[in-house]
Formats: sequence, C-alpha cells, structure tokens
Amino acid sequence: MTTTPSFELPESYADCISEELIGEDEIARTVSRMGEEISRDYADEGLVAVSVLKGSTVFAADLIRRITVPLQLEFMGESKYGGSDSPTGVVRITKDLDIPIEGRDILLIECLIDTGFSLNYLYRNLQLREPKSIRICTFLDKPARRIISLKPDYVGYEIPDRFVVGYGLDYQNHFRNLPFIAVLKPELYKE
Ligand code: IMP
Ligand code: MG
Repeated sequence: MTTTPSFELPESYADCISEELIGEDEIARTVSRMGEEISRDYADEGLVAVSVLKGSTVFAADLIRRITVPLQLEFMGESKYGGSDSPTGVVRITKDLDIPIEGRDILLIECLIDTGFSLNYLYRNLQLREPKSIRICTFLDKPARRIISLKPDYVGYEIPDRFVVGYGLDYQNHFRNLPFIAVLKPELYKE
C-alpha cells in the first residue's frame, strides 16, 4: 500500500486556512433542513443510516439527530487503492456493516462526492445485498469533478472544485475537528 508523504503541519490550523466557506450556523441550518426532508421521505418505513468512514461521521452525528423516524446507525469503511487521491477508482472495503440489510431502506451518508468512484463502489456493493431501497445523502457535492455518473438524493451544498477541510473532511487525517468548512491554503495541499 502506498502512503501519502506527511506534510509539514503549521503551528495552528488557523495558519492553514485561506477562507471559511461554510460557517457553523449555516451548517446547522442546512443539516436541519436535510433532516426534515429525510424524515418526511421515510415517514412510513424508518431506515438504516450508513455513515461512510471517516469523513461523514461528523455530518452523520448531526444529521441523525435531526431525523425523527426510527433509524439504525451503521458504518462502512472504504479505501482507494493507491491512496485517497488515486484516480484508478479501485476501492476496497475496510469496515463492513454489522447487520444484514435485505429488504431495508438504506440511506448512504457521505461528506463529499468528488469523482463518484468511492460511493459508486459502495452503492453497488450494497445493492447486491438486496435492500428495498438505497438513497444517497451528501453534505457537499463537487459535480464539476464527477467521472462516474452518480446523482445524490439529498445534497447540503454544491461547491466548486476547491480542496476543502473541516466538519469531518480531512487533509492527511488532519482538520476533521474544525467545526466549519474551510478552503486549505493551496501551497499546503499537494495532489
Ligand atoms: P470520490 O468521489 O471517490 O472521488 O471521493 C470522494 C472522497 O474523496 C470524499 O469522501 C473525501 O474523502 C475525498 N475528497 C474529495 N475531495 C475532497 C476535498 O476537497 N477535501 C477533503 N476530502 C476530499
Ligand atoms: Mg480523505
């Protein structure tokens, strides 16, 4: 497995940020709006919420508390062969669901859809288990970067092609704990 070379972390995260893109209050409002929409759509059935590790955990923790219908929380881990920026689209599962999902309504929760490779792989993998339905919910969407055609059912924000961190999103496993979405200084980010 290839490991990404570690980057020189400045003294504080504040030194790494060029711009705050989506603030805490705005995030809270959007997550509430998404939770209400999901609660309406699943009113009769309840659902299995599948949070994709590690990025979506922060979003999922907030979102599920805005969903008012019965819900079970599951986690799924995936990793792209060749590192997170690999363009090959070959994905492996590093953590699988703990429950069978046959006949269940699945809400796949992701933090950001970029090329679409990762989520497409997970979607197809879950489909083989014959759930009743699968819908996709993502906090952020970068449609301009899409390679695999994949349309999420619930989207927090469409954003332009910029590298963002915070609210669960990372650069080299840092910045996940920032409570807002920020643009990383481009000189720190190596593709
Ligand atoms: P893709 O849709 O398979 O290309 O990959 C989406 C995943 O790549 C996301 O879940 C993130 O983990 C990661 N990713 C893509 N763009 C960004 C970004 O701007 N910031 C942080 N992670 C990103
Ligand atoms: Mg990542």
